[in-house]
Formats: sequence, C-alpha cells, structure tokens
Amino acid sequence: MVHHFGGKSLCLAMLTLVFTLNIPCSNSLRIENRVKTKSAVFRSPVFELEPGSVLNRIYYNIDFPRGHIAVKSFKAEVVDEAGRPVPLHETYLHHWVILRYYQRKGVSNVEQDSFKKLDQTNFMFARNNGVCQKNVLGQYFGLGSETRKTPTFVPDPYGIEVGNPAEIPDGFEERWLMNVHAIDTRGAEDSLGCTECRCDLYNISKDEYGRPLGPDYKGGLLCCYDQTQCRVRKGFQGTKRSLYLRYSVEWVDWTDSILPVKIYIFDITDTWNGLNSAKHDCKIEYNVAESCKGTGTMSSQGCVDTRRKRVRMPTGGYVVYGVAHQHTGGTGSTLYGEDGRVICSSNPIYGKGKEVGNESGYIVGMSTCYPQHGSVKILDGETLIHESNYNSSQTHTGVMGLFYILVANQLPNPKLFMHSPL
Ligand SMILES: *[C@@H]1O[C@H](CO)[C@@H](O)[C@H](O)[C@H]1NC(C)=O
Ligand SMILES: *[C@@H]1O[C@H](CO)[C@@H](O)[C@H](O)[C@H]1NC(C)=O
Ligand SMILES: *[C@@H]1O[C@H](CO)[C@@H](O)[C@H](O)[C@H]1NC(C)=O
Repeated sequence: MVHHFGGKSLCLAMLTLVFTLNIPCSNSLRIENRVKTKSAVFRSPVFELEPGSVLNRIYYNIDFPRGHIAVKSFKAEVVDEAGRPVPLHETYLHHWVILRYYQRKGVSNVEQDSFKKLDQTNFMFARNNGVCQKNVLGQYFGLGSETRKTPTFVPDPYGIEVGNPAEIPDGFEERWLMNVHAIDTRGAEDSLGCTECRCDLYNISKDEYGRPLGPDYKGGLLCCYDQTQCRVRKGFQGTKRSLYLRYSVEWVDWTDSILPVKIYIFDITDTWNGLNSAKHDCKIEYNVAESCKGTGTMSSQGCVDTRRKRVRMPTGGYVVYGVAHQHTGGTGSTLYGEDGRVICSSNPIYGKGKEVGNESGYIVGMSTCYPQHGSVKILDGETLIHESNYNSSQTHTGVMGLFYILVANQLPNPKLFMHSPL
C-alpha cells in the first residue's frame, strides 16, 4: 500500500499522523522505507599503553563514510586487540573528537605538518557552527568517559549534512581526523589525580614544547600530553597493551527530505563578555577550588561550584538535541534562554559497579535532550545562559563545561498543519 503514495506526500501524511499520536517521526520514515539508515564499524590505528602512560594523538584521514550523506550517530569506545571493551578504571578515555577538513587532492602526507603550521595551502578545517574562536572546539562529535552511555543519534527527519560536493573547495577532498586522549591508570597511586592531569603526579613543570608552566598551573592538558607518565604504585606490574578506539557511524544518503542541523558547542570558559565586538576565547579547561570540607558542618549543597556564562546565538532555530560534557565531580549543566526558560539540562550518570559502562566513580553517561519537534526555539540573536556545576567538596583540575546543541532552521512540514486551523 505504501507504493500508492508519492514519497513526499506519504511522508507528510504519516508525519501529520504521528504528530497527533506523539510517536517519533522515525517510525514513519522507516515504514516508508525511503530513508535507509546505513552503519559501519571502524577502528582507529592501534596504540599502546602501559600503567601510567598517556596517549594524545591525532589520526588523519580516518575511515569514515564517503559521499553526500547525513550523519545520524557516532559511537566510540576503547577496545583491546580481541575487541573486548576496556573499562575506564584501566584505560581512562579523557576524550575523543572527530573533525572534518579539506585536503588538497594529489598531495599526500602533508596533513600533520599543515595542521601544526595552520598552513591552509593544502589543508583547511571545515568546522562546526561555533562559537569558539578559530578552530577551537570545531568538532562534529566528541565525548569522553561518558561515551558508552550517551546517546548521539540525530532524530528523523534531521541529519548532520557532510560531503556536499557543492561545499568542498575546488581541488580539495573532504576528510576526517580523530584526536584520542587516553590515560592508563592501572596501578596509579592516585587514579583521579591522573585523570585530572595533575602536574605533580606527572612530574611536569614545562609543557610539550618546553615552555615553563608556572607554579599556578596545577593540572590540565598541558601536564598529560602524549607519552607523559603518571605516578604508579611501587612494584606494580602491568603489561603493555595494544588498544584501539572502535567507532561506529550511522548515516543516510542525502535527500532533500532531510532537514540539516547546525552544530554549536558552548564552553563555560569562553571569555566573550556579551559585547558584540568582544572576541571568543574558549580556554576549554578550568579548575574547581575546594569550597567546603565534606566532613564540616556545611550541608552538601554548599559544596557546589557554579559557573555561568552568557553566549549569543547569531541565528536561532529549533533545538533538536542537546548534551553537556563534564568531568568527574560534575553535577549537571543547563542552558537557559534569555527569559530564563530551560533549553536543555544535561546531567552526569555515575557508574556504581566494576563492569564496563558502569565503572564506579566515573561519569559513564550524560543525559540528553530530544525536545518534541518545535517545542524549544531559540530566537535570532538571543543571549543564552550556560551554567555548569561541580561538586567542590574537593579540588578538581582540568575539568570541562561544554554544551553541545543541534539546531534546525526549519521544522518538518506538519508544523504548518499543526498551527493552522484544520
Ligand atoms: C622529575 O623531573 C625532574 C626533571 O624535570 C627529574 O630530575 C626527576 O628525576 C623527575 N622525578 C621523577 C620521580 O621522575
Ligand atoms: C552498576 O553496578 C551496581 C553495583 O553492582 C548495580 O547495582 C547497578 O545495577 C549497575 N548499574 C547498571 C546500569 O548496570
Ligand atoms: C560531593 O561529594 C561529596 C564527597 O564525595 C559527597 O559527600 C557529597 O554528597 C557531594 N555533593 C553533591 C552536591 O553532589
């Protein structure tokens, strides 16, 4: 019976139906069988870690679906050579991110060099829609320890459009790079300290390029760069292991019925001060100072470090998805509209056991927002408030407060029907 209808009109009919019934649109699209989700599983290049060691590497030209497509989801986790998932208390996944770029055709192996020198002759970033400066936080997807329990799928009929030949500069091709940062904490003297990149535990006082860090820099990415070593208990024996980041991508071939979404990433450390002319300067990391003793007389409510930042959306739209990124100690993050309405709240899920995906004390997932079609709208030029909370009963170094949203310019057509008298 499906065949009696033209593709589009059936979709509209079904969308209208599902809106009244409040069933996700994906059902209708699947029944219609016009948009077929494809998926593939890939592995990063192999990397080796031993107790206390750190990997922070960029892999260029990684395997990724090609062509003009809409990416629907991206999942990743660390696995061993046998493909077994590795728990966070052995290999802490600080973060993985994937970035899109254009590479000049016919020139090979110049990516790393061009990337370091920001030489655009053969290499250009194709970043997300913002809002941090230059290439900072320009990724399409990226998560950390929460990677296993954080949904990333983009609901139908939306998608992240990539590989559009009309957007790729002449003489270039689109490629993807991946940055993986993992810390082997087997046998660590202070596991949390290693994951928070505390400089004393790494015995680091200069950055990767030999520049002194200064006594005020207690911890963060500058102290746990590639091949640094975190302090391990004396006599601890652990083998060197070969590991991979295994990632799976879901996508659909591009069609005009897919509504493209824009990707925005807000950073709580952004120094933008609300003036139009002021520049964004996202610092990525910050520290949380201890603000009360856990055993003191103050209630636990007193032990919260709250940061708020204003961020302006040049163009608004409808929020399709939202998620925050926090590190251990995080107690949740919220994005508010200018009038105080909640755009999305995203809270950490802490593991409680030992097994993979439920590692005690680690953030194993972040809750996400999938607003009903059209229910959460951001106005053009609206100033949002981004809030990030951490438990401050102890200090934390190198924590993060990101908020990632997907925004569509357009709603699926049924909106027209919903708002006009029938
Ligand atoms: C720490 O680093 C200093 C030089 O930067 C070195 O002399 C010292 O031996 C290191 N300590 C440990 C325990 O590795
Ligand atoms: C995590 O582990 C705890 C303790 O073993 C258990 O009670 C809980 O059900 C587990 N959670 C999940 C989601 O498996
Ligand atoms: C903060 O952490 C301390 C120690 O782990 C805990 O006792 C307290 O309940 C936490 N407070 C909040 C608000 O999560």
